Amino acid sequence: MIVIFGAGGGLGQALVSHYLQRGEQVLAVSRQAAPSEQPSQWQQVSGYDAEALAPLRERLDHQVITGVISTLGILHDEQFMPEKRLDDLTTDHMLHSYYVNAVLPVSLLQWMKPYLPTKQSCFWVQLSAKVGSISDNQLGGWYSYRASKAALNMLLKTAAIELARSHKQLTIAAIHPGTTDTQLSKPFQGRLSADKLFTPAMSAARIAQVIDSLEPAMSGALWHWDGTRLPY
Ligand SMILES: NC(=O)c1ccc[n+]([C@@H]2O[C@H](COP(=O)([O-])OP(=O)(O)OC[C@H]3O[C@@H](n4cnc5c(N)ncnc54)[C@H](OP(=O)(O)O)[C@@H]3O)[C@@H](O)[C@H]2O)c1
Repeated sequence: MIVIFGAGGGLGQALVSHYLQRGEQVLAVSRQAAPSEQPSQWQQVSGYDAEALAPLRERLDHQVITGVISTLGILHDEQFMPEKRLDDLTTDHMLHSYYVNAVLPVSLLQWMKPYLPTKQSCFWVQLSAKVGSISDNQLGGWYSYRASKAALNMLLKTAAIELARSHKQLTIAAIHPGTTDTQLSKPFQGRLSADKLFTPAMSAARIAQVIDSLEPAMSGALWHWDGTRLPY
């Protein structure tokens, strides 16, 4: 079974469709209600903390988990847009970004750990972002998003080192999906040429291709959607 957290977002929906089309058993987890065509594969939750995830337990018990994908992430919402300059920083925005982009994903990994196989092959993928690479930062701006994704990458790398000892066939990966036409990128699509903006279905297929190439020895890295390794 492949479990997809954040299944209601643009990339989440596309990943659910992609894996269902491949004939995989999928459990889609979202705060949003099930789409009419996928009622049985869907688990609606009130959030992603341990208490909110409790209803998931009976659906995971006795299942063999072959992979987990989390799409959780935030760039902007009704109150916040990414900061252009130092003067735009607010504590609330920084803390909220860090909570959604870094704390929730690693808490999900912690919560799911008892369900991850210790001997069979399994992947744990969290969608990250190239702008979270510190050495690749050429343009500045987007302080909270960049910093929270950099923190996410560090948390995943640290967990990969620890879990390599107990879960020898597990591969943990952060994947940059590329700029994809979802509500997350909507406000920033104006300056992009059409060939730089991907459909969710196209990005989901590329993410799945990267996942197919993962091996435990590669655990803890950040990957570009084209399969090349990105620097931290
Ligand atoms: N789109 C792009 O161009 C792009 C580029 C680089 C990286 N990414 C990364 O790819 C991932 C998916 O992005 P997307 O474009 O599909 O964005 P999206 O449509 O906004 O989906 C984001 C997902 O994150 C969850 N989420 C958002 N705010 C949350 C909150 N406050 N608390 C808990 N969960 C929350 C939602 O889960 P629910 O299903 O529960 O609503 C949603 O499915 C993100 O991690 C993003 O940083 C996207």
